[in-house]
Amino acid sequence: MGFYTGLVRPILFMMNAETTHELGKWFFKQEYLWSLSRSYLKFQDEVLHTTVGGVNLKSPFGLSAGWDKNCELIASMSNMGFGYLTPGTVMPHSREGNPRPRIVRYAKKQSLGNALGLPSEGVERALERLKHKSSSVPIFPSIGGYTVEEIDRSHSLLEPEVDGIELSLRCPNVYDKEASFMEPENLSQLLSRINDHRKKALFVRVPSYHNPKDRENRLDLIDVCLKNHVDALTLSGTRKIEEKNVSVDFVNLTGKDILSDSIRIVHDIYKATEGKIPIKSSGGVFTARDAFRMIKAGASTVEILTALVYEGWSVVRNLNRGLANLLREEGYTSLQEARGVLKTIAA
Ligand SMILES: Cc1cc2nc3c(=O)[nH]c(=O)nc-3n(C[C@H](O)[C@H](O)[C@H](O)COP(=O)(O)O)c2cc1C
Repeated sequence: MGFYTGLVRPILFMMNAETTHELGKWFFKQEYLWSLSRSYLKFQDEVLHTTVGGVNLKSPFGLSAGWDKNCELIASMSNMGFGYLTPGTVMPHSREGNPRPRIVRYAKKQSLGNALGLPSEGVERALERLKHKSSSVPIFPSIGGYTVEEIDRSHSLLEPEVDGIELSLRCPNVYDKEASFMEPENLSQLLSRINDHRKKALFVRVPSYHNPKDRENRLDLIDVCLKNHVDALTLSGTRKIEEKNVSVDFVNLTGKDILSDSIRIVHDIYKATEGKIPIKSSGGVFTARDAFRMIKAGASTVEILTALVYEGWSVVRNLNRGLANLLREEGYTSLQEARGVLKTIAA
C-alpha cells in the first residue's frame, strides 16, 4: 500500500466527495511541489510514443475532461506523466452547474457518480489562463455550448493557444432538450463552420450508448465526423443512473464500473469504422492491463480521471511503466501494432 492509498486517501475519503474534489484541486495548484516531483513521476519509453491528430505524444495516457474545468491546473498536471491534457469542458459563459450535492463516491466499486452539470468560469477566463500556461505536454481543451455561433467562437478564441480542440456534444448531466448537436444535421453545420477556419486537430466526443437506437444515432454522428475530417473520436462508457443522494436524482457513473462498457463501445466503433479514425478512449481504466485491453479493442489513446481519485498521483507513472512492459512482453515494438488486435470482446 502506498503513501496515497494508505494514508492520504483514507483522510480524504472521510470528507464528502465534492470537498475532496476541491481539496484535490487546491493541492494541484501548488505548481512548485509538482515541478519537484516531475523526475519521480516521469517514465519515458519509446514504445509508448504515438500521435493523434498529427500531434506527437510521448505517452498515450491523457487526462480526461472534467478534472480541470477552468484550465487552472495545467502546469502541475503536465508534470504527472500524462502524454496530453484535456482541460474543460469550457462553456461559452460562466455557469454554476447543478446545485450541491452533486458528486457521490462508490468506494467499494472504485467508482464515482457526478451530476456537476457543466460548471464553468466561461471561455474568457479559460483563454486568459491558456495564454499564460506553462505545459510540457500537448493541450486539447474540451469546449461545449448550445449554438453553432457559441461553439465556433470558443473554438476560434482557444485554438491559437493550444494543440487541438475537443468538442463535447452533450453533457449527460444537462437535460437532453439542450442537446441539439446530437442531431447529425446540426453537427454537420457546426463542423462545416469550424472547418472554414480551423488550423489544428479537432476531436469530437461522441456520447456513450447502451441500446441499439442510440448506437444508430452515434454511428450517424460518426459518419458526419468522418465526412468533415475530424481527427479523432473520444469515446467512453459513462452511464446515467438514478441516485437519490444528489440534488438532481441522477448521476453520470465513472470509474471501474464502466470499464467493460467503455471497452465494448471502443471495440464496436473501431470495427464499424474499420480503424480509419483514431479513438481517444476513457472510462474505468485503473491498471496497465485495463489500458492494454482498451488499446487491443481499438483505442489509440487512453484517458483517466476517476483512477486519480482512487490511486493518487503515481497512477500515471505506473500505467506508463506497466503498459511499456506489457507491450514488450508480447513482442510489440510500437503501440500502433497492438491497436485493434482483439477479434472479439469476452462477455
Ligand atoms: C467529476 C467529473 C467531472 C467530469 N466532467 C466532464 C466534463 O466537463 N466534460 C466531459 O466531456 N466529461 C466529463 N467527465 C467525464 C470524464 O471525462 C471521463 O470520460 C469519465 O470520468 C470516465 O473516465 P474515468 O472512469 O477514468 O473517470 C467528468 C467526470 C467526472 C468524474
